[in-house]
Amino acid sequence: MLDGVTRRFGTVLALQDVTLRVRRRELVALIGPSGCGKSTLLDLVCGLQIADAGRVALPDGERTVLMPQGDTLLPWADALDNAALALRVAGTPRREARERARAELDALGLGDFARARPATLSGGMRQRIAVARTLLSGAGVVCLDEPFGALDAITRAEAQRWLTSTLAREPRTVLLVTHDTEEAALLADRIVVLSARPGRVVADIAVPLATPRSATDPAVLAVRERALAALGVDR
Ligand SMILES: Nc1ncnc2c1ncn2[C@@H]1O[C@H](COP(=O)(O)OP(=O)(O)O)[C@@H](O)[C@H]1O
Ligand SMILES: [Mg+2]
Repeated sequence: MLDGVTRRFGTVLALQDVTLRVRRRELVALIGPSGCGKSTLLDLVCGLQIADAGRVALPDGERTVLMPQGDTLLPWADALDNAALALRVAGTPRREARERARAELDALGLGDFARARPATLSGGMRQRIAVARTLLSGAGVVCLDEPFGALDAITRAEAQRWLTSTLAREPRTVLLVTHDTEEAALLADRIVVLSARPGRVVADIAVPLATPRSATDPAVLAVRERALAALGVDR
């Protein structure tokens, strides 16, 4: 997906010589300190930025979609119109887009909230609807930028379990940016650890464990320890 990619902003070197291969339907978690270039990397994969050196290449015919960091639902639109947004942008008529969004929300256990506006929904529900919208775009490569980063621990755990079951239903290739080693160990097939800026790949940790996983499973804890060690976090 990335081959020797470097990205700089003026004199700031954000990413340096990053090579990343992602298999079809693999979930790769990207972790690294704040400012190491994680969001930049997703932008490069999605074609929103251009690499200064190296190559970005997607599997033949694959499209990408980005769920950006933060709360990106439209406040004046209900959950259904928010979920339908990617379809509408792609030119689908509103009625058809809403019908497809309705089916998707139902399938993902969010049907009861179809008519709710974002302000009346919990943070966890808003993030799930943003993920549903991202999946509805139909893109094969889904980039999620800290989708659950702002949630409290219990809501985050629920949203993580929901994501696992959602991806089991609708498999995609996923790049998941997180600063949470537990989230990475719970969800990922592989964890790629970036160094502090300039971001370089410092570890690539395979996680050959079935999902759903438990945070207290010793095998999951062991993965987390490896990720923390790669980040240079002493415990
Ligand atoms: N548009 C930009 N202009 C200038 N500097 C930027 C821009 N985008 C990101 N940067 C810088 O590049 C580095 C990586 O940013 P980012 O990819 O957002 O990091 P992360 O998502 O890992 O926190 C940071 O130091 C940030 O300040
Ligand atoms: Mg970021």
